[in-house]
Amino acid sequence: MRLDELTRPDFPILGRLINGRPLVYLDSAASSQKPRQVIEAMARYYETSHANVHRSIHTLGEEATELYESARDRVQRFIGAASREEIVFTRGTTDGLNLLAEAIGRTLRPGDEVLITEMEHHSNVIPWQMAVRDRGAVLRAVPVTGDGVLDLAAFARLLAGRPRVVAVAHVSNVLGTINPVREIAARAREAGALSVVDGAQAAPHLPVDVSALGCDFYAFSSHKMLGPTGIGVLYGRRAALDALEPARGGGEMIKEVWLDRAQWNDLPWRFEPGTPPIAEAVGLLAAIEYLEKLGLERIAEHERALTRAALQALAAVPDVTIYGPRDPDRKGAVVAFNVAGIRGAARRRGHRGPGRPPLCPAAHATVRRRRDRARQLLRVQLTRGDRGARRRRRPSRVHAVGCTSRGIPSARPASARSPPSCCCPTSGRRPGSMWRSSASRTTAAPPTGRELGSARARSASSPR
Ligand SMILES: Cc1ncc(COP(=O)(O)O)c(C=O)c1O
Repeated sequence: MRLDELTRPDFPILGRLINGRPLVYLDSAASSQKPRQVIEAMARYYETSHANVHRSIHTLGEEATELYESARDRVQRFIGAASREEIVFTRGTTDGLNLLAEAIGRTLRPGDEVLITEMEHHSNVIPWQMAVRDRGAVLRAVPVTGDGVLDLAAFARLLAGRPRVVAVAHVSNVLGTINPVREIAARAREAGALSVVDGAQAAPHLPVDVSALGCDFYAFSSHKMLGPTGIGVLYGRRAALDALEPARGGGEMIKEVWLDRAQWNDLPWRFEPGTPPIAEAVGLLAAIEYLEKLGLERIAEHERALTRAALQALAAVPDVTIYGPRDPDRKGAVVAFNVAGIRGAARRRGHRGPGRPPLCPAAHATVRRRRDRARQLLRVQLTRGDRGARRRRRPSRVHAVGCTSRGIPSARPASARSPPSCCCPTSGRRPGSMWRSSASRTTAAPPTGRELGSARARSASSPR
């Protein structure tokens, strides 16, 4: 049985009918749906064990602490980190990258360089823009080639500027490109730079081993990998994390406090001020158990098959141009394409790039018309052949249009290249003609039970 057929029953939301048809969800790159195991683990936690962590010596406090810290152990194993101290819980990828940009940003000096790439999500652009702006430093970007991959020769040249940070997506949410982050991290280190990897689109789809990748930092979000919203992970190589001053303060992140100074807590709590997302950590633990039970290799193989089918179907559509690598082994389960003649149609208000006014109501009507035409085109092509199926099966959500040649750096002359201002097609109405083949993942063989492991309930000595 195929993976999607096996797993569909685990996802209660997929039992819904929308417009009288079973829900087909193709928007997992923006946020995945949740299996029953995750929903139930969180409900069970609230029903039986909720209390604050790291401070209460009553039963519930100890149980909550044990669950929260065992989630950290599970994440450590999931991404191959050397120790649990290297796992910092955040609110998500954006939060983790901001945490880093704030902390590293404080150490930047005028003229220092931070290197990103032209295919980054805004989460890996804006925090660095803010960091360099505040310190008089400079932000540079590695260009993207016509094939939708990073220009590694240009990267080598940019390294000559001795950047302090190299920040890069593991898998691009725009093009699906899988970047050679191991090589990039090694070259960054040789050049004396810290490497920061945005793993938002990789952690849910590929086996990730941060120790093997050799990066200094790696950030990802739970909600894209079957877990709840509101929690993410920032991995930091121990020495790299230790060298950072926390940029955010509050309870939990201190050992001792005086009115004029404080002693920071140990890793990883030093970077987790305030009450953490406890129920969300329980949900993330359940999501990882679920993914591991299915097997990340099996998931990746299934997604490669979906991506191959999507690329083949789209290639047959006359008006469609596909961007990014065509080899499913070199890309994640994201397919970016442009439908000729409907440029800019999905651009939404407030997301149109510098100096561009919001769309007026009349423009919205045009947008709708063009989007409907694109949907119709794709409906016919994506169902591949079977006429009956054409009527029955249609992508429930097609991100029609928008990632025009203006937004694909490689389609412009090299001299005009700058980080894309409109390539952020990660949510339903964002610009970018995306059909995401990373449709909901599900299983028939539910992982059972919570692995509590040897949780380390910290002594409740820290003042709050
Ligand atoms: C590559 C990439 N980085 C970062 C993010 C931001 O993730 P979050 O919104 O969970 O913080 C996304 C979200 O789509 C993404 O695709």
